Amino acid sequence: MESLIWLEESGLGVWVRESMWGYPLILASHAIGMAIVIGIITMLDLRVLGFASRIPISSIDNLFTIAWIGFFLNFLSGFLLFSADADRFFFQTVFQIKILLIILGVIALWVLLRQLRDQAITKGAKMTAAFSLFCWFGAITAGRLTAYIGVEK
Ligand code: HEM
Repeated sequence: MESLIWLEESGLGVWVRESMWGYPLILASHAIGMAIVIGIITMLDLRVLGFASRIPISSIDNLFTIAWIGFFLNFLSGFLLFSADADRFFFQTVFQIKILLIILGVIALWVLLRQLRDQAITKGAKMTAAFSLFCWFGAITAGRLTAYIGVEK
């Protein structure tokens, strides 16, 4: 597999890694984007699973534009962090698991929004919501573990 050293050595990668505020501020944006997108998805999933049943699902729908803004912030900041140590992250199993869980989480959200078009909350929709929670909470856990597992000391 081609190495990603070129990305780490690019002006962008060097700046994120070596500037005093680059990495910490981008990591903070990463957490803010994550809080926005996963917070809103968690609300929807819990509502589908039967919590806060007095809140109409259509009112949560309105928050989805904001969720996409959070996802964009999360993705962009994630890519910038990645550029600082690209060759390690790319080959690190726990990082690969995190990216897989994010992809599965986005697919689960897409499926759930389609299932909710029928108005009634079906058993299938509940299963998708539970799977979605598993993916997003798993992505958070894998993201946190990236700093500790599979890192050469
Ligand atoms: C919603 C999706 C995502 C979630 C839930 C997530 C979660 C996390 C978490 C919990 C951390 C650890 C933060 C900390 O230690 O303070 C983290 C760090 C990081 N994330 Fe994400 N992330 C997401 C998307 C992405 C994407 C799309 C990328 C890459 C393109 C990415 C790349 C990184 C990198 C490189 C780090 C730094 C790890 C380290 O410093 O060891 N993330 N992420």
